[in-house]
Amino acid sequence: MTNKEIPLVELQNVSKIYTEYGYEVHAVKDASFRIYHGESIAITGRSGSGKSTLLHLMSCLDVPTKGKVFIDGKDSTKLSQASLSQLRNRYMGFVFQNYTVLPGFTVLENVNFPGVIGGKTEKQLHDKAMGLLKTVGLAHRVKHLGVHLSGGEQQRVALARAMINDQKVLFADEPTGALDRKGAELVMDLMKKLNEEKRITLLFVTHELSLTDYAKRIIRLEDGRVISDE
Ligand SMILES: Nc1ncnc2c1ncn2[C@@H]1O[C@H](COP(=O)(O)OP(=O)(O)OP(=O)(O)O)[C@@H](O)[C@H]1O
Ligand SMILES: [Mg+2]
Repeated sequence: MTNKEIPLVELQNVSKIYTEYGYEVHAVKDASFRIYHGESIAITGRSGSGKSTLLHLMSCLDVPTKGKVFIDGKDSTKLSQASLSQLRNRYMGFVFQNYTVLPGFTVLENVNFPGVIGGKTEKQLHDKAMGLLKTVGLAHRVKHLGVHLSGGEQQRVALARAMINDQKVLFADEPTGALDRKGAELVMDLMKKLNEEKRITLLFVTHELSLTDYAKRIIRLEDGRVISDE
């Protein structure tokens, strides 16, 4: 068996129950599916259907109440916090609705950040970061501070940052939720291009049905349950 046949992410009967003040919310119910290298997937459903929770479970930002999550064939429940952090750093890039660019750092520093965490120096990362910034159309803003960028620009910095370690999967939770239509199209087009040209596996959450056209596979959630996956 080659590595390619091992799913990048596999969920086996995953459920998530939040308990607050003795009240239980079944946010994700018995989800099972596999994600392979190079796929582009949209997770969609109404507000409260469990999309963000599912994304957090798949990216090991949260742990399931029941079931298992495998990353690249490894059972995430058996990994130490340190190994999990390393796995996330090497395998996963993140873009969220609310911008996650560090406001007091420059564009270049923001892109380099996961690389530095991974043990590389800014110097070692420089050429690669510049190449990525060119890809996202921000090579001219390298020295600008995160705080001075528009929402769309911040999302593009986040995309470059999501590739600095050659991460395999890009997790995006409503990445265009705070952008106008034009800004949203730019970010979606870019993500599609990264998936098609750089073969980064793309997984994005959206409640907007029109945006699911950007994905080849659509996972629909209703009330915590996967109601279709095609
Ligand atoms: N930390 C938490 N504690 C308690 N309940 C939670 C928590 N996070 C989410 N929930 C509940 O779990 C359910 C699923 O929430 P989730 O955020 O995954 O939905 P969503 O599909 O991403 O919604 P939206 O489109 O509004 O972002 C909701 O009923 C929500 O209130
Ligand atoms: Mg959400």
